[in-house]
Amino acid sequence: MLNISVLNDPAFCSQSLNKYASLMACGNGYMGIRATHEEEYTHQTRGMYLAGLYHRAGRHETNELVNLPDIIGISLQLNGEYFSLLSGEILSWERQLNFANGELTRSVNWRSPDGACFRIDSRRFVSLDQLPLTAMQFSITPLDNAAKISLATGIDATQTNSGRQHLDEISVRVFDQHSLQGVYETQDGAIEIVISARCQLSQESECSFSAKNRRLTCHHALTVPQGQTVTLEKIVWVAHRRDKALSSETFARNALGELNACADRGYSALLHRSARAWQTRWNTCRVEVMAEAYQDQIALDYAVWHLTAMTPAHDERISIAAKGLTGEGYKGHVFWDTEIFLLPFHLFTHPQTARRLLRYRWLNLAGAREKARRNGWPGALFPWESAASGREETPEFAAINIRTGLRQKVASALAEHHIVADIAWAVVAYWQATHDDAFMRNEGLTLLTETATFWMGRATEVSGRLEIHDVIGPDEYTEHVNNNAYTNYLAHYNVANALKFMQQFGLQDNGFTEKATDFLARIWLPEADENGVIPQDDTFLSKPVIDLSQYKKDAGKQTILLDYSRAEVNEMQILKQADVVMLNYLLPERFDRQQCRANMNFYEPRTIHDSSLSKAIHGIVAARCGDTQKAYRFWRDGADIDLGSDPHSSDEGIHAAATGAIWSGAIQGFAGLQVLNGELHLSPALPLQWHRLTFPLQWQQTQLRVTIDSESVTIDSPAPVSLTLWGQWVTVNGQQTWRRNDFSLSVNGTATTGDKP
Ligand code: BGC
Repeated sequence: MLNISVLNDPAFCSQSLNKYASLMACGNGYMGIRATHEEEYTHQTRGMYLAGLYHRAGRHETNELVNLPDIIGISLQLNGEYFSLLSGEILSWERQLNFANGELTRSVNWRSPDGACFRIDSRRFVSLDQLPLTAMQFSITPLDNAAKISLATGIDATQTNSGRQHLDEISVRVFDQHSLQGVYETQDGAIEIVISARCQLSQESECSFSAKNRRLTCHHALTVPQGQTVTLEKIVWVAHRRDKALSSETFARNALGELNACADRGYSALLHRSARAWQTRWNTCRVEVMAEAYQDQIALDYAVWHLTAMTPAHDERISIAAKGLTGEGYKGHVFWDTEIFLLPFHLFTHPQTARRLLRYRWLNLAGAREKARRNGWPGALFPWESAASGREETPEFAAINIRTGLRQKVASALAEHHIVADIAWAVVAYWQATHDDAFMRNEGLTLLTETATFWMGRATEVSGRLEIHDVIGPDEYTEHVNNNAYTNYLAHYNVANALKFMQQFGLQDNGFTEKATDFLARIWLPEADENGVIPQDDTFLSKPVIDLSQYKKDAGKQTILLDYSRAEVNEMQILKQADVVMLNYLLPERFDRQQCRANMNFYEPRTIHDSSLSKAIHGIVAARCGDTQKAYRFWRDGADIDLGSDPHSSDEGIHAAATGAIWSGAIQGFAGLQVLNGELHLSPALPLQWHRLTFPLQWQQTQLRVTIDSESVTIDSPAPVSLTLWGQWVTVNGQQTWRRNDFSLSVNGTATTGDKP
């Protein structure tokens, strides 16, 4: 049995309600439910989302992940007073998300303003076993006197996305005195949602129903003797569909049938099955660390938990939102975060999921081609932000310009084109880790050639060489520049791999080959100076430098934009996030340690880390440079983006990319996993704070298990696998241990080390 950690919400605090609603959100890749309290608080944002369920509510809007009717809210009255922890006294408090079985629990002892004491217990989970299922229990125990208790809960369709209504109520109904059903439709009529809920009380009560003002509610009232516990059990089935093959009645009836089958089994049995599914999941992707700070294990479990809860592994038409399924930040849109920050975890644990994420891009090629065409380029220009289709979804405006008082335009949709090459990078990474030729022959090569074709058309000829003008690199504080190094190198990588795989798979296209060969010969790859520093773009190094220390202290909050307009920031050497350092990370074959170190030393002081995509990458590059302690500091800071003490950093949802980076920091940083020229390399160096690191790893259809401590590495492999360990070629079959100092072997199976044949 793995000893999986729990995440605690340390105290009831009205300031951090939304932070913990995000961090402790439950999900299964199909749906996500924010960890809001049952009772109402003014600033608490409730949220239930279905992956891929987007809707555009107005002409000037983009598609957003729809906030569905709420099922969590319970209005509780105790002796005629509404229960709220803002009044009375909290005598004891415990709230945790149990990563092992996916259950969120709360137990509070509370004295009401009238002096009566109660224990309130609640528990809930979203099933990993049956995706549309969620279940909860809510219990009240009057501790010192009998109490009159009334409870009201149901399906509350007054939820909005920051005031925007996306759903029409089609019908609401009650069945058998216990079950409620609401049928809703997105206002464009495209998607139907059926929410069915059974509410059952453990004791006899007066029960009634109401359907009013978009709320379908079940009311219970009873008197509970002192010391007795009354429990409300609510089982909910959330179904939705786009295709209307079945009649509405049949679809709704089927949903009710599913609900009844689940509700008959009851909360504990349903939880047991879901917990088993989590157990299987943990067995295949848990990263275990023996560390001085238990916080580090919690961070790793937190990451794997959310990486599972946010990923729609069941449906390749959907990808992962920047906040997963935990909130409405970035309107639930999909960015390069998926391919660069989230895909590696899946690639090395569940490659089939990585494949599905790439198929999402492949299925949306039409939109990408359309966007390229509209802008006068060939090939595929993937949208900077996307939702359920290949359409560009980036909102037009962002924050106010402090100088003009006007909202500033978001330029990413116009110029942040590196996403095209990022997707191609992910296709190559997928093939290297899986050798899935069927995918490469079909989806992979189409993606590679369409993206390569884009770059070949996108480049501009200047005195014989090819340049890429007017782009935004990963550093979004530097806009509309020429020859952003990251973009040019990645475009080169994109075209080179399109050509390579076409040849490898025997595809002949003379026109493409000729153009690609010419592009590769002439594309400008910004050169490093004598110290190894690569200019971020053509003008970056000529801009003035300012002291960023005050902004770096508030990293993530973008406080620089309170003092300078974006246009002014653009004219200084200020990075929002890793850019050349990101390039060093992604193309390890191209840059040696000395160059990586030089770029890190030059750019890091100029980087505010205002994006959550920054520190962890610096950490991985620092680890590769051999600076393990620095890497550890970055890794910790990266973990603290969600898990640190800032009460508001995650109000609108967790930072999905940062959770991917927690995993990557451990595996690609401290375990030193790299894929160089298609081959697996491990070069472990644990920080002093970590004594042992153990993790499963899928590599080319073989399930490995790696254990690292300060002196040795043990790899378990059921089949022969070759890799480079600390620079030496080894083949492992069975379980082998290598000592760091002398590489002497303690072998259960057979192992060979030496030079690569
Ligand atoms: C970052 C982007 C990222 C987006 C979504 C922005 O703040 O600059 O790199 O893709 O957030 O996470």
